[in-house]
Amino acid sequence: MPETDNKKPAWAIALLLLACASHAVEVRSPDGKTVVDVDLDTEGRPTYSLRFGEEVVIEPAKLGMRFLEHAALERGMREVAVERRSADSTWELPWGERRRVRDNYNEALVSFESTVGPARRFDVRVRVYDDGAGLRYEIPEQPYLSNVAIVDELTEFRIPVDATAFWIPGRGWNRYEYPYRTTPAEDIHLAHTPVTVRLASGTHVSLHEAALVDYAGYTLDHRRPGVFQTNLAPRSDGVRVRLKTPFVTPWRTIQVSDDAAGLVNSNLILNLNEPNMLGDVDWVEPGKYVGIWWAMHLGKSTWGSGDSHGATTDNAKRYIDFAAEHGFDGVLVEGWNTGWDGDWYYNGSIFSFTEAYDDFDLKAVADYARSKGVRLVGHHETSGHISNYEAQMADAFDLYESLGVRQVKTGYVSDGGQLQRVDENGVTHYEWHDGQVAVNHFERVLKEAAKRRISINTHEPVKATGLRRTYPNWISREGARGQEYNAGWSDPNPPEHNVMLVYTRMLGGPMDFTPGIFDLMHHGADSPYRVQSTLMHQLALYVVLYSPIQMAADLPENYLRFPDAFRFIVDVPTDWEQSIALAGEVGDYVVIARQERGGEDWYLGAISDEQRRSVAIPLDFLDEDVDYVATIYRDGDDADWQDAPYDYLIAERPVDRDTTLELELAAGGGAAIRIRPAAKEQD
Ligand code: NOJ
Ligand code: CA
Repeated sequence: MPETDNKKPAWAIALLLLACASHAVEVRSPDGKTVVDVDLDTEGRPTYSLRFGEEVVIEPAKLGMRFLEHAALERGMREVAVERRSADSTWELPWGERRRVRDNYNEALVSFESTVGPARRFDVRVRVYDDGAGLRYEIPEQPYLSNVAIVDELTEFRIPVDATAFWIPGRGWNRYEYPYRTTPAEDIHLAHTPVTVRLASGTHVSLHEAALVDYAGYTLDHRRPGVFQTNLAPRSDGVRVRLKTPFVTPWRTIQVSDDAAGLVNSNLILNLNEPNMLGDVDWVEPGKYVGIWWAMHLGKSTWGSGDSHGATTDNAKRYIDFAAEHGFDGVLVEGWNTGWDGDWYYNGSIFSFTEAYDDFDLKAVADYARSKGVRLVGHHETSGHISNYEAQMADAFDLYESLGVRQVKTGYVSDGGQLQRVDENGVTHYEWHDGQVAVNHFERVLKEAAKRRISINTHEPVKATGLRRTYPNWISREGARGQEYNAGWSDPNPPEHNVMLVYTRMLGGPMDFTPGIFDLMHHGADSPYRVQSTLMHQLALYVVLYSPIQMAADLPENYLRFPDAFRFIVDVPTDWEQSIALAGEVGDYVVIARQERGGEDWYLGAISDEQRRSVAIPLDFLDEDVDYVATIYRDGDDADWQDAPYDYLIAERPVDRDTTLELELAAGGGAAIRIRPAAKEQD
């Protein structure tokens, strides 16, 4: 369904032309609580600040941009025009954590021009919502600035250094795949966004960006105490961004909330993206999948050829049978194509995306899957060689389309800054996963895939900035430490990690975390290389970590060990009518309720960090006058992730909107709940 406006936007346009000296332009959110002021400092530098109620969240912070060969957009500016606008509309997500999204804001477009040096013009558009604000630069076409090479973007965020920050380091070799740190904001050096900050008052703030298109992603760079600046990922030639005017930058976003849950409930990032450009996207199919995957991470089989090759025709059929029997939509097969032999991390140039290994009959597997009502999920690991992939991409998607494949997982395993691009002279250049070249590559892949009605799930991606609205075939992505880190080839994710993800990485959009590991101690009970959670925590992840596609990541035989718990994974949907973060604290715990899209059932997930805790959950989101039955999958009284991860209980009880559930979450624990109208209980 194309994205539609359900109501004509009630545009209230007021044009105010100022010929004159500067004065602050104030933009208030519809509820009046979030206020952005755009101003000029004494040197004629544009600034902005943000208040939330009585509290100053961002002190006056500078705006601007420097170029390689042109005078900067920085000092000596004056304000020449302000155009104001307000909007209130509701639009629909074709798939998502909710169906309807309200887009309600007040906006100002503030125009500046230079008073000294070459004549330059630029605009800053500020959009203020109840849940935060976005601002971006709009650089019009002009004689002095046509082809520009941006060497620095000067957008600042001034936040108190004693605020508590939740963050991962920026520009590291491992891209976004780091455990989260909890430190005073003062300790940030370079951090990838979203960066979440809790101010001393308890106000929560998330700094990120929306609509990262044809530009470089930024990391938050601590330049002076309390002054953080956008540090754009450089291109291989050292310039940050090359563009022609006119252009607009991504939105610099500041989400603000009284509490942690409010950040999770915000739609600001999606609202700041352009509407669906793909038209009818009923071919983008949310759902659940299994796959030939975890065995490779455990070291039980290999991506490359040989006796332990995972992607054999027989093995794929075994997974397809399992998927069909338990109602899964897809089967991912990794390692089916040639190029994996040798050191595949560094051999991106030799991958073929159309040639299968001898023991894998691609067509037979795809046909077998279809005959069982399951789809093969494609896989393209590029090892970061974007040129090798682009050269084969059209043929590779044609092949998958001809086989009825609707989703392809892509991968870009290579160190940060080491994506390989080969130019027309055969010279190799090295790019960042969040640099302008990579950003444009990811967009090209989406467009090629969309032509064949294929959706993309990117691993080792650029960060999520809400582009799923514009390209609904960008169905999921990794872009954080996922479950794979618990396989034994690395220090596992600490118990707080999944809670941390909800309040940081997930604010950008869906993540293909690959939940549902049932054999939690796969290297033996004494090994530190294990999953640091209880079994119930694994179930809760299907609700807590939103993705329209969710993997049941473990080996089929491990699900059969706990059929009663597996039932939750079989039942849980991946597409939602509405979602509500009910309670939580960053890095401590979270409780989320979601209603099945097109249905009446609710699902609730709660997870805890390394602490045991009790949470009281009023079910006041349920419909009035309806009696429900809750099936509660919870940690047993003695459960904890270390010593008793399999201590769990499954019980049913009647509930209604007056019920308050008292849940005990174990250390590293969780609870997963299905709530159905009592009349439908037998389903
Ligand atoms: C890293 C991905 O995150 C993982 O899911 C995949 O199995 C490997 N790359 C191989 O493509
Ligand atoms: Ca990865």
